Amino acid sequence: MDFAIKVATPEKQRGACAVVGVFETRKMTESAKALDKIAQGHLKNILASGDMDGKASTSLLLHNIPGTLFKRILLIGLGKEQEFKEKIFLAAIGATLAALQKTAVTDAMLFLSDFPLKTRDNAWKVSQTVIAAANHQYRFDQLKSKPETEISNLKKLTLCLDNRAESVACEEALQRGLAIAHGMCLTKDLGNLAPNICTPAYLAKQAKDLAKSHKLKVTVLEEKDMEKLGMGSLLSVAQGSEQPAKLIVLEYYGLSKKDNPIVLVGKGVTFDTGGISLKPAAEMDEMKFDMSGAASVLGTLQAVAEIKLPVNVVGIIPATENMPSGKATKPGDVVTSLSGQTIEVLNTDAEGRLILCDALTYAERYNPKVVIDIATLTGACVIALGNFTTGLLSNDDKLAQALLAAGEHTGDRAWQLPLWDEYQDLLRSNFADIANIGGRAAGTITAACFLSRFTKKYRWAHLDIAGTAWKSGKEKGSTGRPVPLLTQFLIDQSKSTD
Ligand code: BES
Ligand code: MN
Ligand code: ZN
Repeated sequence: MDFAIKVATPEKQRGACAVVGVFETRKMTESAKALDKIAQGHLKNILASGDMDGKASTSLLLHNIPGTLFKRILLIGLGKEQEFKEKIFLAAIGATLAALQKTAVTDAMLFLSDFPLKTRDNAWKVSQTVIAAANHQYRFDQLKSKPETEISNLKKLTLCLDNRAESVACEEALQRGLAIAHGMCLTKDLGNLAPNICTPAYLAKQAKDLAKSHKLKVTVLEEKDMEKLGMGSLLSVAQGSEQPAKLIVLEYYGLSKKDNPIVLVGKGVTFDTGGISLKPAAEMDEMKFDMSGAASVLGTLQAVAEIKLPVNVVGIIPATENMPSGKATKPGDVVTSLSGQTIEVLNTDAEGRLILCDALTYAERYNPKVVIDIATLTGACVIALGNFTTGLLSNDDKLAQALLAAGEHTGDRAWQLPLWDEYQDLLRSNFADIANIGGRAAGTITAACFLSRFTKKYRWAHLDIAGTAWKSGKEKGSTGRPVPLLTQFLIDQSKSTD
């Protein structure tokens, strides 16, 4: 879908459909009033008839309103004026897209200034609208023999502003929103792909394609390279699988190469059976999404490259399957990580941390400004925070605050959990330097404690996206999160001076 920004009021415009807001109860917004004026009270009369009172998320499609130059006018309910907040704004955008989808309209004009958010500027509204529209139109039908219908006819959405003051900022917000939407689309596609297709080798190929199309540097380490380096922990997860593991490294330079990069490390378990500590059968298919961290790193790098953001970013993706087999790691095995620390693998299903720890040690060679890992790491995080909120743990409060703020800004929110020393004792092992699990209590925190043993040399944050990376049930599918949070964080970093 195409998007455009236009400084315009509705009475002078011509088109297939104008989208204007109505507050409860039947209170017209400025653009609705402007249209009503040239229609000589026609809209007011229709509202008075009781067909639409302005309740949030409702809509009413009108045809051939006299005096106006639009074929249709779509009234969108905005709820009570005093209660109009971000959530209702997004619901109004959703209602607009749903209503337009049912029509033949290919080209609509949305009067954004009608949506008077006190705490957000028009640039915010523009990027959120673009992201919402792209998500609304997203379909994953590449594995169906015939694509399913019910695709929207909408080809172009023009976002109208009532004054010129913010138009430059809005143009930039449009480009950035589009880049985030494209990044989310890549992340979703990779997550949704079947695990017999999206293997470690497939992820490596995707990284190479991305490098080619967006001028990034790509390196793929093979198992023999990892052996030479001493990545015994990562390899211990891969050894039960027929699919060779890959360590994928992508480098994007928007600044001089001398500038220390921000490193993103994404968990790329393309299927997690649990290994010898086998998972139960129910919903095991969803463990194809266990590479969502990796997919979000690729999506974010694509977004950053598309924006040409002045910041250096390195993406590191340890990619493997976690399978049971005669060669698989057993509970009780002791492995040596790249850092030299030995690990007792008490549960082979706690494999994410085993591949991340070697990738995190590998990150040291980039002298990173900060390192952020993104992982579908613990079921405990879903229990703690549910499906709306990403878990955040960090050894640096300033970094944590910056990530929380980026999540808040984009509606892709995270919540911080403590990483206090008390929890470290739970990882004690009688036989190695550290155990890979810490028992049932505080599972998300002990997982992060494990990672923290490998991140002492730099500022680091961990995002546990186990609850937010995909949806289950009827709407099963990848969400594309946390590409908005990460991209916004990098945008913010590109502006900050420290
Ligand atoms: N990939 C899973 C985490 C997961 C589970 C994400 C369910 C989303 C939904 C991870 O590898 C895992 O299996 N973690 C174990 C850790 C435990 C053995 C300490 C878990 O959460 O059960
Ligand atoms: Mn697991
Ligand atoms: Zn896993």
